[in-house]
Amino acid sequence: MSAPASKEASSPLSPPFTNASDFHPTTGQYRFTPPTPTAIRSPCPIVNSLANHSLIPHTGKGVPAHRLYEAVKSLGISPLLAYMLTYAVYLPDPTITVPPPPSLWSRLNPFSPYFLWNKNPLGEFGMLKPEQLEQLPKLPIMDLDQIGRHGGVEHDVSLSRLDTAQGDNHTRQPNLVSQLLATSKDGLNITLEDWAGLRKLRLQQQTDANKELHFTKRENHSAAAEIAFLLSVFGDGEKVGKERMGAIFGEERLPIMEGWSAGRKGVGVLQVNKLAGEVEKAVGFEGQGMGKGLVQGAIGH
Ligand code: HEM
Repeated sequence: MSAPASKEASSPLSPPFTNASDFHPTTGQYRFTPPTPTAIRSPCPIVNSLANHSLIPHTGKGVPAHRLYEAVKSLGISPLLAYMLTYAVYLPDPTITVPPPPSLWSRLNPFSPYFLWNKNPLGEFGMLKPEQLEQLPKLPIMDLDQIGRHGGVEHDVSLSRLDTAQGDNHTRQPNLVSQLLATSKDGLNITLEDWAGLRKLRLQQQTDANKELHFTKRENHSAAAEIAFLLSVFGDGEKVGKERMGAIFGEERLPIMEGWSAGRKGVGVLQVNKLAGEVEKAVGFEGQGMGKGLVQGAIGH
């Protein structure tokens, strides 16, 4: 049985794909189902929420790039920004090297795994394994845990996760989620200043806890962009409802029951980058190394 078209259209999330069994017949929403024990998840609460609502495969396995792109866009994110976020990770993992193939042609072919992985000119955020390119000319796929490759988009000093050196950079930590929610001064909203205060606290905590801490300007910019995303996609750009953050960080559920629906005017690259700059200023962390400005903010969020 397929979902009624009218309900689909009235849903705040209306991507062009519908798995009827995941579509709730009375609320017209994509049903939230917590992950099964075998499901694969990422360190990103939003990507996990998309999987928990079956906007991308609920198993978290073999997620095609175009499905993630459509799902990210359906949150009210501009096509360009959704494209940058998604396709930056569906690139060769630059930490993998591939042995030279026997034929000269494969070595010279710029689309061969050997060429792409060993001479990756495409970027530092890539997560694809060589065998996942073999899927071409079909579009590339990946499992959600690949998004957690440390040093790609994943970084130390997360708000709700431990650092890689502490063993598990994927799983949300209930004590960190409680700390995050408690940062709201008025008990209703988490403001830009509240988020900045939390980032400073987390930096202090991880400086004490992780002797291998790696957190430069680059990671600081990504971390600020993550907050900018939350403020602009789920809030009004200055603050975001604490209850909504409880749904996202506590359950990895889109805060539809908390009154959120995707904005019609897609959140864009410039908007997120400007807001990320304001967050960085409020955090006041100088760090070391070079930030990468606009592109880093948009992709590496
Ligand atoms: C293709 C899309 C996306 C990818 C590949 C992705 C990837 C990631 C990764 C790897 C992390 C871990 C960073 C860390 O180590 O702390 C992360 C965290 C985060 N992401 Fe995403 N993400 C995507 C989309 C989004 C969107 C659309 C939003 C918000 C609207 C978002 C919000 C966040 C937030 C707030 C965190 C920080 C979690 C924490 O510090 O505990 N992400 N994301």
